[in-house]
Amino acid sequence: MTWHPVIQEDDLWEGELRGVTAGTVKIMLVNAGGRIRAFRDECPHKGTPLSDADFDGSTIVCPTHNWEFDACTGCGINPGDSQLIVHEVRVEGGTVVVCDKPSPAAA
Ligand code: FES
Repeated sequence: MTWHPVIQEDDLWEGELRGVTAGTVKIMLVNAGGRIRAFRDECPHKGTPLSDADFDGSTIVCPTHNWEFDACTGCGINPGDSQLIVHEVRVEGGTVVVCDKPSPAAA
């Protein structure tokens, strides 16, 4: 498990979504309500990169078949039994740092 600096905190404003790479792992970052979350950049349905998703500040909508996910938890909204892969993320001195392994709670 390795932590990777990926972006400056100031470069991801509230309501923004962006794809980054943590080592070799593609990650989607969102700023929901002023807090940054990190998820695997991959829709659990057919694998579409979610860094291309629509994001209204609270809901992530996959561009391929419109599955919806809660940006705070990664839990499926529609369908409700889906789940994004969650990665731990923290801010160190203004830099966003992401773990390249899934969060144990979501592994
Ligand atoms: S690939 Fe995302 S909803 Fe189908």
